[in-house]
Amino acid sequence: MANDPKIIAIANQKGGVGKTTTTINLGAALAEQNKRVLLIDLDPQGNASTGLGIDHDKRDATTYDLLSGDVTLSEAVQKTSVDHLSIIPATTDLSSADLELVDNAKRSFLLRDVLRASSAEALDFDYILIDCPPSLNILTVNAMVAAQSIIVPLQSEFFALEGLSQLILTVRDVRQTANPDLRIEGIALTMYDSRNNLSLQVEDDARENMGDMVFKTVIPRNVRLSEAPSFAIPVLTYDSGSKGSTAYRSLAKELIEKEKKMRAA
Ligand SMILES: Nc1ncnc2c1ncn2[C@@H]1O[C@H](COP(=O)(O)OP(=O)(O)OP(=O)(O)O)[C@@H](O)[C@H]1O
Ligand SMILES: [Mg+2]
Repeated sequence: MANDPKIIAIANQKGGVGKTTTTINLGAALAEQNKRVLLIDLDPQGNASTGLGIDHDKRDATTYDLLSGDVTLSEAVQKTSVDHLSIIPATTDLSSADLELVDNAKRSFLLRDVLRASSAEALDFDYILIDCPPSLNILTVNAMVAAQSIIVPLQSEFFALEGLSQLILTVRDVRQTANPDLRIEGIALTMYDSRNNLSLQVEDDARENMGDMVFKTVIPRNVRLSEAPSFAIPVLTYDSGSKGSTAYRSLAKELIEKEKKMRAA
């Protein structure tokens, strides 16, 4: 019998820290391990959709339509060029202004409710990864309410840790109100440069303060990772032997191992 999908939000309110890059490439790396993966683009910028080749004219059924109840999960899901990797694309419709109109009591629960209501369709997937916008707005809260855990990409640069306390407060808040089981799956250091003292220092700080919560795998700064989206494919397809590909494969394996341990415990 199929297990429930594991739902993970990729979140950090700081912009440009590697959320979308992590969503796409961790997703592709899990798919490569024969996991069935659904990406939900929850960012009105639609970067994950573009990075996986869903052109604007192919975004008829979007995350916004899903949250509005206008389409079902299966109607919104599109295949990508990568086997086992599907996506629900986003457009600027998703800007939270529209969602703010929804009645107060319900608006944090839209994604959770839609996934619950589509539980049979969601069983087609082993993982659902949610790419969040760079904000702790209602969209990110929806992701945190719907998810079992969150992965926080942390850019290996100065001030990286500054926003983290605010993020952790939001997680705590969601735990106390809407989703008591929400966990931080892990913090992933991104754009890491081992020749740069600052990267080493951010890593030391993160491991000292957050301990095991920080993934052992670090994602190096790698130009292949930044080139791949312009070809609308994950780095694993674009340059399978690149350092970026190796790192995201390692992160996927670490995630799978972590889960095995948790289940055994
Ligand atoms: N490890 C990396 N090495 C080199 N470039 C990277 C790496 N990770 C991300 N980038 C590049 O940095 C930029 C920001 O990355 P990305 O879009 O993944 O961040 P984000 O957190 O999703 O941004 P936003 O907050 O706007 O959604 C992109 O141009 C991306 O290609
Ligand atoms: Mg992004």
